[in-house]
Amino acid sequence: MTLRAILAGTGSALPRTRVSNAELAERVDTSDEWIVERTGIRFRHIAEPDETTATLGAAAAKEALAAAGLQPSDIGLIIVATATPDNTFPASATKVQAILGAPDCIAFDVAAVCSGFLYAVSVADSMLRTGAAKHALVIGSETFSRILDWEDRTTCVLFGDGAGAIVLSAEDVADDRGILATRLHAEGKYCDMLYVDGGPSTTGTVGHVRMQGREVFRHAVTNLASVLGEVMADVGLAAEDIDWVVPHQANKRIIDATAKKLGLPADRVVLTVDQHANTSAASVPLALDLAVRDGRIKRGDLVVLEAMGGGFTWGAAVLRI
Ligand code: UT7
Repeated sequence: MTLRAILAGTGSALPRTRVSNAELAERVDTSDEWIVERTGIRFRHIAEPDETTATLGAAAAKEALAAAGLQPSDIGLIIVATATPDNTFPASATKVQAILGAPDCIAFDVAAVCSGFLYAVSVADSMLRTGAAKHALVIGSETFSRILDWEDRTTCVLFGDGAGAIVLSAEDVADDRGILATRLHAEGKYCDMLYVDGGPSTTGTVGHVRMQGREVFRHAVTNLASVLGEVMADVGLAAEDIDWVVPHQANKRIIDATAKKLGLPADRVVLTVDQHANTSAASVPLALDLAVRDGRIKRGDLVVLEAMGGGFTWGAAVLRI
């Protein structure tokens, strides 16, 4: 028997308001045609003032708990991956804990921007396997609309708000179910290529997203293909063994180019970028939840998660459902 972190449930939450490319084109110098052709994005959800990273994260967490058949009191660890916390502190994970009414447990945030969910999954996996908790809520939740410069068409059309959550449970298994491998990377020398031009310790303001899009694109394809190769080698499996890839949803062209590099057919890649745009740390768990709920991802499937974002940071995970 092997102690592993098993996927016990998934959930997600999207803000009430959905904005089309055409609606955006009324306030920014852009077009539906440009956005669809360059990114594959058609819609994004934008949070209303009462919808925050913590409230969206808690809504996604409630769904994941219900899917896992667990109560908030069963949870020993809550990790929220976010770059847009409700407050500088306390951690949004503690606010989620309060909304859920979960009693004393471990709760903290992870900041690795778009790769945050992969970082959080990897940390939770290690903590569950070393006995820190029996059940963990791992949440990616973002309200990027609050840090977008709505005058900058090169960034504001790309992002959306939302949350996704999973429950991971430590279980002794005889088969190969659960998280089989994770790999994380960071190269801080590229920190100026995708960043927010503000913060508590510099400007004292929240700041806005700034990005050198073409450079980020180039690094994303290279790094994602390479980290996917690493995790597959870790588990001794090949591209043809993968049932589903759930990639970070930044740009359909990045997803297509990465899949092509690895020889993965497009019909095994979960795509939500058209409906959600780039929701940063929320994009992978949101897409995972969608594919689990519509029946594509089933028990026994080999699933690969991957993401790349500001820092640069990137990572991947392989799990058997
Ligand atoms: O989550 C991880 C982080 N993010 C990413 O992974 C994003 C990575 N980068 C990308 O997805 C792409 O680089 C973008 C979608 C951001 C941009 O696509 P691109 O094909 O690299 O376009 P570009 O930046 O080279 O710009 C091409 C043209 C420019 O005009 P000129 O200089 O050729 O006249 C831009 O000014 O498109 C123009 N442009 C726009 N036009 C209409 C830039 N943004 C827009 C816009 N609407 N929203």
